[in-house]
Formats: sequence, C-alpha cells, structure tokens
Amino acid sequence: MSVHSEIKKVTTKVLADMKARGEKISMLTAYDYSMASVIDQAGMDIILVGDSASNVMAGNATTLPITLDQIIYHAQCVVRGAKRAFVVVDMPFGTTEVGKEEAVKSAVRIMKESGADAVKIEGGEELIDSIRAIIAGGIPVMGHLGLMPQSINQYGSFALRANDDAEAQKLINDALLLEKAGCCSLVLEKIPAALAKKVASQLHIPVIGIGAGNGVDGQVLVMHDMLGINKGFSPKFLRRYANLFDVMTEALQHYISDVKSGDFPNENESY
Ligand code: KIV
Repeated sequence: MSVHSEIKKVTTKVLADMKARGEKISMLTAYDYSMASVIDQAGMDIILVGDSASNVMAGNATTLPITLDQIIYHAQCVVRGAKRAFVVVDMPFGTTEVGKEEAVKSAVRIMKESGADAVKIEGGEELIDSIRAIIAGGIPVMGHLGLMPQSINQYGSFALRANDDAEAQKLINDALLLEKAGCCSLVLEKIPAALAKKVASQLHIPVIGIGAGNGVDGQVLVMHDMLGINKGFSPKFLRRYANLFDVMTEALQHYISDVKSGDFPNENESY
C-alpha cells in the first residue's frame, strides 16, 4: 500500500511531509457536496473552495462579487463531502483588506461555520498584518501570489504576471515573507515556470502552481475547466481531462427526445 492511500486525513503536517519527500500534491476546486464527494474519493489531496465559485457557479465575470456568507455556504457543502482531503476556503475580496480585526473575524467565521481546514488569501506584504493575525488565531493560511484575480481591476487583464525583474523580485520577497509569517502553503498563479521553480526551491512550505510550470510542489486547477464543463475558457496552462459539456449535452438531448417521443418512462420504469 502506498503512503498516499494510507493517509486517513490530509493535514498541514501531511502536506509538509509530502513536500519534504518530494511527493507532488494534487489540488482541485469544488463548490458543492456531490462533486466534493467524487473528488475526495478519487484521492485528491486538497480541495479548494475557490472564489472562482463567483465565475463558475454564479456566472459573474470576476471573483469580486462573492460574499462571505456565500463562500461559507459553499464551504459547508464541500466539507460534508470531503472525508480525506484538506479543505481550503478562499477569503472573499474585501474581507482581508479591511484591517486585521475584521480579517480575523471573517476567517474565524469560515472555520467555525464550515469546518474547513484552512483559508487562502491573495496578497503579500500589503496584507501581512491581517495574515499574521489570522495565523496567530490558530488558523492555517495558504498564501496566493502571482496573478491574483481579486486585483483584476488594477491589472486590467489576465496576462502573465511577474514577467519583469521588479515584479519577480517583489514576488520572491512576498513569498519569503508569507513563509516567515507562518503560512502553511502557497499558490502561485500564472507566472513564468523558472520563477515558480526558484520560489519552490527557496521555500520549505509546499508551493502549488496554476499556470506556473512543473517545478513546483503540486498543481491546482478549477474543476469546471479541467472537466471541460466550461467550453469557452482555454488558457495555455489548462489540460482538459474530459469533455463533460459534450457528454452532458448528449445525455440531456437523449432524455428530451425520449420524453417527446413517449419512450420514457417505459413499463419497467413505472409503478
Ligand atoms: O478561486 C480559485 O479557483 C483559485 C484557483 C485558481 C487557485 O484561487
């Protein structure tokens, strides 16, 4: 039996041990009980209740509109389905920036009301007081640097980040600061692979990439993207493992046609 399948529940220590022995970490988003159950039973190490729920569940153009109450609802559903995976919940836009007391209150609400294992926060030095206060409150924090979708209005586009020396150096400084502050892990989004590899080799905490190449300690994707439920989103970094949009459309059209023709339900499907 592999170490992987022996693990009853993934914890911060399990993740740290995986980094130490060079075992890659798998991470995927989920927003509801049923999908979290499937993902958990498939053996995923981390489930992220991402604020990408704002896009893929609610249909918004950005992650900004999702509220604390909404992310807590999604987190509660996911936690009920995840028995083994480590569950991380995004702190919504506006909850960390408002000062450390409010940030701690929001993080405590997420942990207390959902039963999740950690929160994730986009940002570095600018938010370090809030991040330190949350960690001091006993809450594990996963950092998030590089492309931070909550800052999309500042960037003006979803282009590659840290592609010049100044931004790359700030990212390295922020990553070191987050580790020193006590973050349990770090997500790096859409940055050059060489930079992500450099950061992962300098840090002792696990570094999980999305569009950050293969030199990091694990990978994360948005579930709807990798399962091909979103047809219109095809960035270079995305690998589609299924084409569920087409699979589901075929099943739905088959059902519609059976209803219209009177084929469904048949005698065996009736009382
Ligand atoms: O919200 C999300 O899905 C994320 C991932 C893209 C890392 O933050």
